Amino acid sequence: MGLTVALAKGRLADKTLDLFARAGAVCPETREIMGETSRRLVFASEGTGLSFFMAKAPDVPTYVDYGAADVGVTGKDTLLEGGRNLYEVLDLKFGVCRMVVAGYEETRDRLRHGNNLRVATKYPRIALDYFSRRKQQTVEIVKLNGSVELAPIIGLADVIVDIVESGVTLAENGLSVLEEITPLSARMVVNRASMKTRRSRVAELITQLKNALVSEGAFPKEADRER
Ligand code: PRP
Repeated sequence: MGLTVALAKGRLADKTLDLFARAGAVCPETREIMGETSRRLVFASEGTGLSFFMAKAPDVPTYVDYGAADVGVTGKDTLLEGGRNLYEVLDLKFGVCRMVVAGYEETRDRLRHGNNLRVATKYPRIALDYFSRRKQQTVEIVKLNGSVELAPIIGLADVIVDIVESGVTLAENGLSVLEEITPLSARMVVNRASMKTRRSRVAELITQLKNALVSEGAFPKEADRER
């Protein structure tokens, strides 16, 4: 029996499909169909023993946790926010960005020491973990669903916890990175039961993807790493 793979729709989708195609884990015809802007969500890849479905990024860990997918590919941000008990087996080295606290420069001092700041974010779990566990600061967290940079500008919150990639959105809105929380990138995750029951097929897929990453220089070869 093959493996079912959940892939995140959105900004990681094309790079994920390209990597799977280069790794020989999805056949060229299927890659083409999946890359089209069709509304189709489920795909079987001839001859690879893999079937794929596309889900909203934050739902990928949910599908994998329940075993509806054996394997998932999504951003580290959604894995941290989902808080599910999955095996994270491979850093795919694309979708590289950072989770940060951002806001106006004037807020920097209050952020360092003060309590009772209001924090707007799409990532309440990551924000709470950062402020209460790592910084031992009491804050109020406001969950938003997008365009989080608006919150300090409009006066809804003092700072935001959000993803920064190029930094253009912050710069264009007069905001700065005030504190770094964690680096992020796309990751491959595996369901805990599948890791045991489908071990050899999962290991084969990890090797295929790793080899594709090595051949494009994203990853050092095993031999180089040992030096
Ligand atoms: C993300 C993030 C920032 C922006 C950062 O938003 O929340 O707003 O990208 O990218 P940059 O540093 O390259 O400017 P996304 O585009 O996913 O949409 P959203 O604002 O609706 O969440």
